Amino acid sequence: MITYSIFIIDDEETIREGMSMALEADYKVSSFADAESSIKAISVNPPDLVLLDIGLPAMNGIEALEKIKQLYPHIPVIMITAYEDIHTVISAMKLGAYDYVVKPIQMDSLEITIRNGLETIRLRKEIRALQDKYLKENLPCFIGESDTIQDMMAFLAKVAKSPDTPILICGETGSGKELIANAVHYRSPNFKGNLVTVNCAAIPKDLIESEIFGYAKGAFSGAATSGKKGLIEDASGGTLFLDELGDLSLEAQAKLLRFLENGEFYKVGSTKKQYIQTRVVSATNMNLDKMIEDGFFRKDLYFRIGVIKIKVPSLNERRNDIILLAEHFIYEFSRKFGKIFTGISSQAAKALIHHNWTGNVRELKNIVERGVLIGNGPELMPQDLGLEDRMQTPERQSGKMMFPPIPPEGLDFSEIQRSFEKYYIDEAFKMAKGNESKAAKLLNINHHTFRYRRKKLLVI
Ligand SMILES: Nc1ncnc2c1ncn2[C@@H]1O[C@H](COP(=O)(O)OP(=O)(O)OP(=O)(O)O)[C@@H](O)[C@H]1O
Ligand SMILES: [Mg+2]
Repeated sequence: MITYSIFIIDDEETIREGMSMALEADYKVSSFADAESSIKAISVNPPDLVLLDIGLPAMNGIEALEKIKQLYPHIPVIMITAYEDIHTVISAMKLGAYDYVVKPIQMDSLEITIRNGLETIRLRKEIRALQDKYLKENLPCFIGESDTIQDMMAFLAKVAKSPDTPILICGETGSGKELIANAVHYRSPNFKGNLVTVNCAAIPKDLIESEIFGYAKGAFSGAATSGKKGLIEDASGGTLFLDELGDLSLEAQAKLLRFLENGEFYKVGSTKKQYIQTRVVSATNMNLDKMIEDGFFRKDLYFRIGVIKIKVPSLNERRNDIILLAEHFIYEFSRKFGKIFTGISSQAAKALIHHNWTGNVRELKNIVERGVLIGNGPELMPQDLGLEDRMQTPERQSGKMMFPPIPPEGLDFSEIQRSFEKYYIDEAFKMAKGNESKAAKLLNINHHTFRYRRKKLLVI
């Protein structure tokens, strides 16, 4: 069994001795008559818990508490006060004191307070160890050293701490929204629960409500006789990640709003109210303001679901992360393909830094994957990146599109128009890994228009 160590800091000898004698049977006790010497000892060998008198000579208990909290914020400090001076006790609690006891000390109740304090740190340590384990095993690391990424991660660490505040993650396609949603889950108190991902774009609009909230027996024709529980129930005590939030049907939006407001929901076709606790994290690359204007997204839901908003910066906005990310992916794919790549040539690095990353980190990852697969190594070379192929088509240069000049004999305008359209449709389709609705989003056109144009271009 672990023997916890406790420091007693009190200028009254009788109190120090009385407490030491009572606690020595169960704990390793050290006592000090003044704050200064105790703080020295704490910085050399931090105890598990501190009993600190408020009315000390020279440095008083409140000042000592501040110092201890600066050094070791997690050590529980129990204040000892001669009389219940409410103002001093309040300032101590505000500074992070764990609890307080009033003299003359009732040893029974002090021992309970000590036990609770130690239990709190034991649990905290256990949670941190588990969290580290989860972070190592489940989370692909989020790479980025640019100021924008560092600021975003610091903000994320703060907001993840609440177990149920909704978080909306915005950002361009491939910028890392899903990775951020993972980070929120594993850094939150809900990390022991499930992270349940619902891709709203992949589920037909009329089924999404029942997928998320479940349905009751006989709710609609074809509904399983026993009914079905929704994904939200799997996320109880954990995180419900609604990816591609812009694709959520208006019916599901209404239900979600109700759930976010008071934690209650009904299965489709049921009148039985259900309650669960989960955190809703959502992500979108759509312009929700525009969708609200057009009547496709509820304004009230937008405010509720985006209490906290995280904007993932695009790769073009943080070019100093490009090489860092490229090297990370080179390492990842070299291991995967059993190749020996040591890094990236300076010419290839230049090409990557100057590329226009419309597909963000996903595009970079795909390019490196292909490069490592086809390249000979040991460095990733410009020809391994396949970026030249992309140059043959209209390319942005200093903000202006570059097109071939009109030759004296004239040109075939429809053919140029067709190849221009085909290029972007193919490119979007490739980037979206064959997912038509994602590809349509990349081109900011509607799903049906994308499908129609693609079909037409393939037939002609
Ligand atoms: N900072 C990063 N560090 C390491 N890998 C990253 C980073 N950002 C993104 N990735 C990788 O890039 C790919 C795309 O990221 P992710 O799926 O999170 O993007 P997204 O913003 O959700 O895209 P979409 O809008 O298309 O759904 C994933 O394979 C992810 O692991
Ligand atoms: Mg995503």
